[in-house]
Amino acid sequence: MGAIRYNFERVNSIAGDRPVLAVVKADGYGHGAVQISRTLLGAGAHGLAVAYLEEALEIREAGISAPVIVLFGLPADKVSYCFDYNLTPVVWSVEQASALSGEATRRSSSITLHIKIDTGMGRLGLHPGEAVESIVRIIDMPGLAVEGILSHFSDADLASADVADAQLELFRSVDSKLQDRGIRIRFRHMANSAAVISFRASLLDMVRPGLMLYGYNPVPEQSDLDLRPAMTVKSTVISVKRVPTGTPVSYGRTFCTKRESLIATMAAGYADGFSTALSNRGRVIVRGKIAPVVGRVCMDLAMLDVTEVDGVSVGDKVTLIGEEAGHGCWADAMAGLAGTIPYEILTSIGKRVTRVYQ
Ligand SMILES: Cc1ncc(COP(=O)(O)O)c(C=O)c1O
Repeated sequence: MGAIRYNFERVNSIAGDRPVLAVVKADGYGHGAVQISRTLLGAGAHGLAVAYLEEALEIREAGISAPVIVLFGLPADKVSYCFDYNLTPVVWSVEQASALSGEATRRSSSITLHIKIDTGMGRLGLHPGEAVESIVRIIDMPGLAVEGILSHFSDADLASADVADAQLELFRSVDSKLQDRGIRIRFRHMANSAAVISFRASLLDMVRPGLMLYGYNPVPEQSDLDLRPAMTVKSTVISVKRVPTGTPVSYGRTFCTKRESLIATMAAGYADGFSTALSNRGRVIVRGKIAPVVGRVCMDLAMLDVTEVDGVSVGDKVTLIGEEAGHGCWADAMAGLAGTIPYEILTSIGKRVTRVYQ
Protein backbone atom coordinates (compact mmCIF):
# COMPACT_ATOMS: atom_id res chain seq x y z
CA MET A 1 0.00 0.00 0.00
CA GLY A 2 3.08 2.20 0.13
CA ALA A 3 2.71 2.84 -3.60
CA ILE A 4 -0.90 3.97 -3.21
CA ARG A 5 0.06 6.36 -0.42
CA TYR A 6 3.01 7.61 -2.46
CA ASN A 7 0.84 8.23 -5.55
CA PHE A 8 -1.76 9.98 -3.41
CA GLU A 9 0.98 12.31 -2.20
CA ARG A 10 1.85 13.10 -5.83
CA VAL A 11 -1.79 14.03 -6.45
CA ASN A 12 -1.85 16.10 -3.28
CA SER A 13 1.30 17.96 -4.18
CA ILE A 14 -0.43 19.16 -7.36
CA ALA A 15 -3.93 19.61 -5.93
CA GLY A 16 -2.73 21.66 -2.98
CA ASP A 17 -5.64 22.44 -0.66
CA ARG A 18 -8.24 21.05 -3.00
CA PRO A 19 -10.06 17.96 -1.73
CA VAL A 20 -9.28 14.74 -3.58
CA LEU A 21 -12.21 12.60 -4.60
CA ALA A 22 -10.45 9.29 -5.18
CA VAL A 23 -11.95 7.17 -7.93
CA VAL A 24 -12.21 3.59 -6.66
CA LYS A 25 -14.81 2.26 -9.06
CA ALA A 26 -14.45 -1.17 -10.69
CA ASP A 27 -13.15 -2.58 -7.42
CA GLY A 28 -10.54 0.10 -7.04
CA TYR A 29 -9.36 -0.38 -10.65
CA GLY A 30 -8.96 -4.07 -9.87
CA HIS A 31 -6.91 -3.54 -6.73
CA GLY A 32 -9.71 -4.11 -4.20
CA ALA A 33 -11.99 -1.17 -3.44
CA VAL A 34 -12.26 -1.55 0.31
CA GLN A 35 -8.54 -1.87 1.02
CA ILE A 36 -7.65 0.89 -1.41
CA SER A 37 -10.35 3.17 0.00
CA ARG A 38 -9.08 2.72 3.56
CA THR A 39 -5.55 3.50 2.47
CA LEU A 40 -6.52 6.58 0.46
CA LEU A 41 -8.73 7.96 3.20
CA GLY A 42 -5.96 7.31 5.70
CA ALA A 43 -3.63 9.28 3.43
CA GLY A 44 -6.04 12.23 3.37
CA ALA A 45 -8.54 11.69 0.54
CA HIS A 46 -11.71 13.70 1.07
CA GLY A 47 -14.02 11.05 -0.36
CA LEU A 48 -14.50 8.21 -2.81
CA ALA A 49 -16.13 7.96 -6.21
CA VAL A 50 -17.66 4.71 -7.40
CA ALA A 51 -19.64 3.87 -10.51
CA TYR A 52 -22.65 2.04 -9.13
CA LEU A 53 -24.73 1.57 -6.03
CA GLU A 54 -23.45 -1.96 -5.35
CA GLU A 55 -19.90 -0.61 -5.15
CA ALA A 56 -20.98 2.08 -2.71
CA LEU A 57 -22.75 -0.47 -0.54
CA GLU A 58 -19.63 -2.64 -0.40
CA ILE A 59 -17.70 0.34 0.92
CA ARG A 60 -20.34 1.24 3.48
CA GLU A 61 -20.71 -2.37 4.60
CA ALA A 62 -16.98 -2.42 5.27
CA GLY A 63 -17.62 0.33 7.82
CA ILE A 64 -16.24 3.26 5.80
CA SER A 65 -18.16 6.45 6.57
CA ALA A 66 -16.37 8.98 4.31
CA PRO A 67 -18.33 10.72 1.51
CA VAL A 68 -19.09 8.30 -1.33
CA ILE A 69 -20.20 9.70 -4.66
CA VAL A 70 -22.09 7.37 -6.98
CA LEU A 71 -21.03 8.60 -10.40
CA PHE A 72 -23.37 6.74 -12.65
CA GLY A 73 -26.59 7.14 -10.79
CA LEU A 74 -29.18 4.96 -9.29
CA PRO A 75 -32.12 3.08 -10.69
CA ALA A 76 -35.37 4.90 -9.80
CA ASP A 77 -36.45 2.07 -7.49
CA LYS A 78 -33.21 2.25 -5.51
CA VAL A 79 -33.10 5.91 -4.47
CA SER A 80 -33.90 4.96 -0.88
CA TYR A 81 -30.43 3.42 -0.56
CA CYS A 82 -28.86 6.85 -0.84
CA PHE A 83 -30.66 7.89 2.31
CA ASP A 84 -30.14 4.61 4.17
CA TYR A 85 -26.42 4.55 3.40
CA ASN A 86 -25.69 8.26 3.29
CA LEU A 87 -24.51 8.21 -0.33
CA THR A 88 -24.08 11.19 -2.64
CA PRO A 89 -25.63 10.45 -6.04
CA VAL A 90 -24.71 12.17 -9.27
CA VAL A 91 -27.79 13.15 -11.28
CA TRP A 92 -28.07 14.38 -14.85
CA SER A 93 -31.79 14.94 -15.24
CA VAL A 94 -34.60 16.81 -13.51
CA GLU A 95 -36.47 13.49 -13.24
CA GLN A 96 -33.69 11.84 -11.24
CA ALA A 97 -33.53 14.82 -8.91
CA SER A 98 -37.29 14.78 -8.54
CA ALA A 99 -37.22 11.12 -7.46
CA LEU A 100 -34.65 11.97 -4.80
CA SER A 101 -36.64 14.99 -3.68
CA GLY A 102 -39.79 12.86 -3.41
CA GLU A 103 -37.98 10.35 -1.21
CA ALA A 104 -36.49 13.14 0.90
CA THR A 105 -39.95 14.61 1.44
CA ARG A 106 -41.44 11.23 2.36
CA ARG A 107 -38.73 10.81 4.95
CA SER A 108 -38.68 14.45 6.10
CA SER A 109 -35.02 14.23 5.32
CA SER A 110 -32.55 15.68 2.84
CA ILE A 111 -29.85 14.44 0.51
CA THR A 112 -26.65 15.87 -0.88
CA LEU A 113 -26.08 15.43 -4.61
CA HIS A 114 -23.87 16.47 -7.51
CA ILE A 115 -25.13 17.36 -10.98
CA LYS A 116 -23.35 16.29 -14.14
CA ILE A 117 -22.99 18.47 -17.22
CA ASP A 118 -22.02 16.99 -20.56
CA THR A 119 -19.35 19.25 -22.03
CA GLY A 120 -18.34 16.92 -24.85
CA MET A 121 -18.10 13.34 -23.67
CA GLY A 122 -21.50 12.57 -25.21
CA ARG A 123 -22.23 10.22 -22.38
CA LEU A 124 -24.00 11.38 -19.24
CA GLY A 125 -24.86 14.90 -18.23
CA LEU A 126 -27.16 17.83 -18.83
CA HIS A 127 -26.64 19.57 -22.15
CA PRO A 128 -24.88 22.87 -21.43
CA GLY A 129 -27.72 24.72 -23.17
CA GLU A 130 -30.31 23.42 -20.71
CA ALA A 131 -28.03 22.97 -17.69
CA VAL A 132 -28.63 26.31 -15.99
CA GLU A 133 -32.43 26.08 -16.08
CA SER A 134 -32.36 22.46 -14.94
CA ILE A 135 -29.93 23.15 -12.11
CA VAL A 136 -32.06 26.06 -10.91
CA ARG A 137 -35.11 23.79 -10.88
CA ILE A 138 -33.21 21.06 -9.02
CA ILE A 139 -31.90 23.48 -6.42
CA ASP A 140 -35.47 24.61 -5.75
CA MET A 141 -36.69 21.07 -5.04
CA PRO A 142 -37.33 20.31 -1.37
CA GLY A 143 -34.87 18.08 0.46
CA LEU A 144 -32.00 18.46 -2.02
CA ALA A 145 -28.62 20.01 -1.26
CA VAL A 146 -26.65 20.51 -4.46
CA GLU A 147 -23.07 20.25 -3.31
CA GLY A 148 -21.32 19.83 -6.64
CA ILE A 149 -21.40 20.16 -10.39
CA LEU A 150 -19.07 18.06 -12.49
CA SER A 151 -18.11 17.16 -16.00
CA HIS A 152 -15.77 14.63 -17.58
CA PHE A 153 -13.07 15.09 -20.21
CA SER A 154 -13.51 13.10 -23.39
CA ASP A 155 -9.80 12.24 -23.58
CA ALA A 156 -8.43 10.12 -20.74
CA ASP A 157 -4.99 11.37 -21.82
CA LEU A 158 -6.10 14.91 -22.71
CA ALA A 159 -4.51 14.33 -26.11
CA SER A 160 -6.24 17.32 -27.63
CA ALA A 161 -5.57 20.51 -25.65
CA ASP A 162 -8.12 22.38 -27.78
CA VAL A 163 -10.87 19.93 -26.93
CA ALA A 164 -9.98 20.03 -23.24
CA ASP A 165 -9.93 23.85 -23.27
CA ALA A 166 -13.32 23.97 -24.96
CA GLN A 167 -14.81 21.52 -22.46
CA LEU A 168 -13.50 23.53 -19.52
CA GLU A 169 -14.79 26.73 -21.11
CA LEU A 170 -18.28 25.25 -21.51
CA PHE A 171 -18.25 24.10 -17.90
CA ARG A 172 -17.14 27.51 -16.70
CA SER A 173 -19.81 29.23 -18.77
CA VAL A 174 -22.54 27.18 -17.07
CA ASP A 175 -21.01 28.00 -13.70
CA SER A 176 -20.79 31.70 -14.41
CA LYS A 177 -24.43 31.79 -15.54
CA LEU A 178 -25.33 30.11 -12.27
CA GLN A 179 -23.31 32.72 -10.41
CA ASP A 180 -25.15 35.46 -12.31
CA ARG A 181 -28.31 33.99 -10.79
CA GLY A 182 -26.74 34.13 -7.35
CA ILE A 183 -25.95 30.42 -7.21
CA ARG A 184 -22.52 29.40 -5.98
CA ILE A 185 -21.85 25.64 -5.99
CA ARG A 186 -19.33 24.42 -3.43
CA PHE A 187 -17.49 21.78 -5.48
CA ARG A 188 -16.96 22.22 -9.20
CA HIS A 189 -14.92 19.31 -10.50
CA MET A 190 -13.63 17.93 -13.79
CA ALA A 191 -10.04 16.84 -13.29
CA ASN A 192 -9.26 13.20 -14.03
CA SER A 193 -5.64 11.98 -13.75
CA ALA A 194 -4.55 13.48 -17.05
CA ALA A 195 -5.97 16.86 -16.06
CA VAL A 196 -4.32 16.71 -12.64
CA ILE A 197 -1.03 16.01 -14.38
CA SER A 198 -1.19 18.36 -17.30
CA PHE A 199 -4.07 20.83 -17.11
CA ARG A 200 -3.78 22.92 -13.97
CA ALA A 201 -6.52 25.35 -15.04
CA SER A 202 -9.03 22.53 -14.71
CA LEU A 203 -8.34 21.65 -11.09
CA LEU A 204 -11.19 23.91 -9.93
CA ASP A 205 -12.49 23.11 -6.40
CA MET A 206 -11.86 19.39 -6.25
CA VAL A 207 -9.93 16.78 -8.24
CA ARG A 208 -11.19 13.36 -9.26
CA PRO A 209 -8.28 11.13 -10.29
CA GLY A 210 -8.28 7.38 -10.70
CA LEU A 211 -5.49 5.87 -12.76
CA MET A 212 -2.61 7.89 -11.34
CA LEU A 213 -3.47 6.76 -7.82
CA TYR A 214 -2.71 3.23 -8.99
CA GLY A 215 0.64 4.29 -10.40
CA TYR A 216 0.08 4.87 -14.10
CA ASN A 217 0.50 8.11 -15.96
CA PRO A 218 -2.00 8.58 -18.81
CA VAL A 219 0.10 11.46 -20.20
CA PRO A 220 3.36 9.79 -21.23
CA GLU A 221 4.89 13.09 -22.44
CA GLN A 222 4.79 14.25 -18.82
CA SER A 223 7.30 11.61 -17.82
CA ASP A 224 8.89 13.58 -14.99
CA LEU A 225 5.98 12.69 -12.75
CA ASP A 226 7.17 9.83 -10.61
CA LEU A 227 4.35 7.36 -9.93
CA ARG A 228 4.62 3.84 -8.54
CA PRO A 229 2.49 1.05 -9.96
CA ALA A 230 0.68 -0.46 -7.00
CA MET A 231 -0.16 -3.85 -8.40
CA THR A 232 2.09 -6.75 -9.19
CA VAL A 233 0.57 -9.94 -10.54
CA LYS A 234 2.29 -13.28 -10.21
CA SER A 235 1.53 -16.79 -11.32
CA THR A 236 3.31 -20.13 -11.04
CA VAL A 237 4.88 -22.54 -13.51
CA ILE A 238 2.91 -25.80 -13.30
CA SER A 239 4.64 -27.73 -16.09
CA VAL A 240 7.91 -27.57 -17.99
CA LYS A 241 8.67 -29.76 -20.96
CA ARG A 242 11.28 -30.05 -23.63
CA VAL A 243 9.72 -30.48 -27.07
CA PRO A 244 11.18 -31.06 -30.52
CA THR A 245 11.12 -28.69 -33.50
CA GLY A 246 7.68 -28.56 -35.09
CA THR A 247 5.64 -28.98 -31.91
CA PRO A 248 2.35 -27.03 -32.03
CA VAL A 249 1.36 -25.19 -28.86
CA SER A 250 -2.18 -24.47 -27.61
CA TYR A 251 -5.58 -24.05 -29.28
CA GLY A 252 -5.55 -23.53 -32.99
CA ARG A 253 -1.82 -24.37 -33.19
CA THR A 254 -0.99 -20.71 -33.88
CA PHE A 255 2.55 -21.32 -32.63
CA CYS A 256 4.83 -24.13 -33.69
CA THR A 257 8.34 -24.52 -32.29
CA LYS A 258 11.10 -23.65 -34.76
CA ARG A 259 13.78 -25.32 -32.66
CA GLU A 260 13.96 -27.75 -29.82
CA SER A 261 12.28 -25.73 -27.09
CA LEU A 262 11.55 -25.62 -23.42
CA ILE A 263 7.88 -24.75 -22.94
CA ALA A 264 6.56 -23.79 -19.53
CA THR A 265 2.87 -23.64 -18.72
CA MET A 266 1.77 -21.05 -16.17
CA ALA A 267 -1.37 -21.16 -14.07
CA ALA A 268 -2.99 -18.00 -15.43
CA GLY A 269 -5.17 -17.33 -18.44
CA TYR A 270 -7.75 -14.96 -19.73
CA ALA A 271 -10.12 -15.71 -16.84
CA ASP A 272 -7.46 -14.16 -14.63
CA GLY A 273 -7.17 -11.09 -16.84
CA PHE A 274 -4.31 -12.29 -19.00
CA SER A 275 -6.04 -11.44 -22.26
CA THR A 276 -6.17 -13.63 -25.35
CA ALA A 277 -4.85 -10.53 -27.14
CA LEU A 278 -1.51 -11.45 -25.54
CA SER A 279 -1.42 -14.74 -27.47
CA ASN A 280 1.98 -14.93 -29.20
CA ARG A 281 2.63 -11.32 -28.09
CA GLY A 282 2.74 -11.12 -24.31
CA ARG A 283 5.91 -11.10 -22.23
CA VAL A 284 6.36 -12.19 -18.65
CA ILE A 285 9.34 -12.55 -16.33
CA VAL A 286 10.60 -15.93 -15.19
CA ARG A 287 13.76 -16.34 -13.10
CA GLY A 288 14.67 -12.73 -13.82
CA LYS A 289 14.42 -13.13 -17.61
CA ILE A 290 11.81 -12.08 -20.11
CA ALA A 291 9.91 -15.04 -21.55
CA PRO A 292 7.53 -14.68 -24.50
CA VAL A 293 4.01 -16.05 -24.47
CA VAL A 294 3.64 -18.68 -27.18
CA GLY A 295 0.40 -19.98 -28.64
CA ARG A 296 -3.06 -18.85 -27.67
CA VAL A 297 -3.74 -17.83 -24.12
CA CYS A 298 -6.28 -20.27 -22.67
CA MET A 299 -8.93 -19.64 -20.01
CA ASP A 300 -6.75 -20.79 -17.12
CA LEU A 301 -3.30 -21.34 -18.63
CA ALA A 302 -0.75 -19.78 -20.92
CA MET A 303 2.44 -21.20 -22.39
CA LEU A 304 5.84 -19.55 -22.30
CA ASP A 305 8.97 -20.17 -24.30
CA VAL A 306 11.61 -20.54 -21.59
CA THR A 307 14.28 -22.09 -23.79
CA GLU A 308 16.60 -19.16 -23.03
CA VAL A 309 15.90 -19.16 -19.30
CA ASP A 310 18.18 -21.30 -17.17
CA GLY A 311 16.83 -23.76 -14.66
CA VAL A 312 13.09 -23.19 -14.99
CA SER A 313 11.18 -25.69 -12.93
CA VAL A 314 7.67 -26.41 -11.69
CA GLY A 315 6.77 -24.04 -8.86
CA ASP A 316 8.75 -21.07 -10.21
CA LYS A 317 7.04 -17.73 -9.89
CA VAL A 318 6.06 -15.89 -13.07
CA THR A 319 5.71 -12.11 -12.99
CA LEU A 320 2.88 -11.01 -15.28
CA ILE A 321 2.77 -7.45 -14.00
CA GLY A 322 5.74 -6.16 -12.05
CA GLU A 323 9.47 -5.87 -12.03
CA GLU A 324 12.25 -8.37 -11.54
CA ALA A 325 15.99 -8.24 -12.08
CA GLY A 326 15.74 -4.87 -13.81
CA HIS A 327 13.02 -6.02 -16.21
CA GLY A 328 9.63 -4.34 -16.01
CA CYS A 329 6.39 -5.82 -17.28
CA TRP A 330 3.87 -3.13 -16.41
CA ALA A 331 0.22 -2.75 -17.27
CA ASP A 332 0.81 0.09 -19.74
CA ALA A 333 3.33 -1.96 -21.74
CA MET A 334 1.06 -4.98 -21.55
CA ALA A 335 -1.80 -2.81 -22.79
CA GLY A 336 0.37 -1.73 -25.73
CA LEU A 337 1.02 -5.36 -26.65
CA ALA A 338 -2.63 -6.31 -26.24
CA GLY A 339 -3.94 -3.29 -28.16
CA THR A 340 -5.81 -1.91 -25.18
CA ILE A 341 -5.41 0.57 -22.31
CA PRO A 342 -3.90 0.08 -18.84
CA TYR A 343 -7.34 0.72 -17.31
CA GLU A 344 -8.62 -2.44 -18.98
CA ILE A 345 -5.59 -4.50 -17.99
CA LEU A 346 -5.93 -3.54 -14.31
CA THR A 347 -9.70 -3.88 -14.07
CA SER A 348 -9.63 -7.25 -15.82
CA ILE A 349 -7.51 -9.01 -13.21
CA GLY A 350 -9.85 -11.84 -12.31
CA LYS A 351 -11.64 -12.49 -9.04
CA ARG A 352 -9.79 -15.73 -8.38
CA VAL A 353 -6.44 -13.93 -8.32
CA THR A 354 -5.82 -13.62 -4.58
CA ARG A 355 -5.08 -10.05 -3.51
CA VAL A 356 -2.28 -9.73 -0.99
CA TYR A 357 -1.70 -6.29 0.55
CA GLN A 358 1.62 -5.17 1.90
C1 LIG B 1 -16.58 10.26 -14.30
C2 LIG B 1 -15.16 9.89 -14.07
N1 LIG B 1 -14.38 10.69 -13.34
C3 LIG B 1 -13.08 10.41 -13.10
C4 LIG B 1 -12.49 9.27 -13.63
C5 LIG B 1 -11.03 9.00 -13.36
O1 LIG B 1 -10.31 9.02 -14.55
P1 LIG B 1 -8.75 8.62 -14.57
O2 LIG B 1 -8.70 7.19 -14.11
O3 LIG B 1 -8.36 8.78 -15.98
O4 LIG B 1 -8.09 9.52 -13.63
C6 LIG B 1 -13.27 8.41 -14.41
C7 LIG B 1 -12.64 7.22 -14.99
O5 LIG B 1 -13.08 6.54 -15.84
C8 LIG B 1 -14.63 8.73 -14.64
O6 LIG B 1 -15.42 7.95 -15.40
